[in-house]
Amino acid sequence: MRIYDIIHKKRNGEELTDEEIRFFVAESVGSKIKDYQITALLMAVCFNGMTERETATLTMEMAKSGDMVDLSEIEGYTVDKHSTGGVGDKTTLIVTPIVASLGGKVAKMSGRGLGHTGGTVDKLESIEGFRTTLSGDEFLNQVNKIGLCVVGQSGDLAPADKKFYALRNDTATVDCIPLIASSIMSKKLAAGSKGIVLDVKTGSGAFMKSVEESEQLAEAMVKIGKAAGRDTVAVITNMDIPLGNAVGNSLEVIEAVETLKGNGAEDLTTVCVELASNMLTLVTGRDKDACTELAKDAIADGSALEKLKEMVREQGGNPEWIADTALFPKAKHKCEIKAESDGYIEHMDAEKIGVASLMLGAGRNTKEDELDFSAGIILQAKTGDKVIGGETIATLYANDESKFESAVQKFNEAIEFSSEPVEKQKLIYSVIR
Ligand code: URA
Repeated sequence: MRIYDIIHKKRNGEELTDEEIRFFVAESVGSKIKDYQITALLMAVCFNGMTERETATLTMEMAKSGDMVDLSEIEGYTVDKHSTGGVGDKTTLIVTPIVASLGGKVAKMSGRGLGHTGGTVDKLESIEGFRTTLSGDEFLNQVNKIGLCVVGQSGDLAPADKKFYALRNDTATVDCIPLIASSIMSKKLAAGSKGIVLDVKTGSGAFMKSVEESEQLAEAMVKIGKAAGRDTVAVITNMDIPLGNAVGNSLEVIEAVETLKGNGAEDLTTVCVELASNMLTLVTGRDKDACTELAKDAIADGSALEKLKEMVREQGGNPEWIADTALFPKAKHKCEIKAESDGYIEHMDAEKIGVASLMLGAGRNTKEDELDFSAGIILQAKTGDKVIGGETIATLYANDESKFESAVQKFNEAIEFSSEPVEKQKLIYSVIR
């Protein structure tokens, strides 16, 4: 078999066989195929697409290119969630304790933030002492003991994806549905859970800017999950506006705790209950309405907050910080952004707000950048809200005052005002099973 022939075939719009896809993935990981040949094939996929069978085979081969996490020692139904990434997305910190408090077994590997999107691992590390690197045995034992463990991605998980993603990033081949679907799902399949709930974000802060594209991506991922024998559900949610009011690591942990106390922003609470209830339908086999009530009750009776505290304690973190979030260190400086006149917020570009938060020190431009955990943004008003001239619409936090100038400029670029009332946007667009 020759890579040249495989590239030629896909370039001409033909369907690749399972053997050809297997050869491509194995030889790419084994460095027997040149980077320019890999990127030529990925570009041909961008132009000519892949069938469902090709996409499923590509995903499975990418998953099998490294460690496949074995969760068979965990008693009970293992369930995972994945978000395609966004701004202010602290849903893992809220949803996973809800589900674990109701009997789901959540053995979760999360990522770090890069660019305008935040990462759960960074948020958790803003809690004093919290360990996001555990041995395989510690990970499994904790899930058996308390039903919940969230760690950073470790070991050799889907190395084919690492290689392809780096090349895609440099060659304008990221936004291609079969490639995004296989990239995300290869890591989820390798991570081992039986049930997978995908939060596919749509809008200005997401990879997929339109609902139609997001639904196509969601459908592709659900089909892959099913072909691999996993119970897979995708929820299309709004990421045109940052989720909740906080953007930035410890600010988001504090907001997650408030949400688990029942004091969360309406949009954040709604999205979290939707994700948790979809996970619970898989765990319990009960209908969606019953699972929505279960999720709301776990917030109302404090059991989900207790589960988060338990996880923090088990992973070496200081649970006092969850009991009393005033213990999180505060940024030394703040800067308030005020509305110039009366009106309505017509648009709030989530990606630009994510970049403004990054500029304050809450995010990374490169993997090596150090984070300032207490930096970030609290939004006092969001898209659709009425504002009065002089009213504060956002407060920016940083430890380095010199960061405000560029961050304020970026934040202002993100906001558009209108003198007319603005229609509220949908939060949940659809659920694909
Ligand atoms: N996230 C991933 O993990 N892969 C992609 O291709 C896009 C987003």
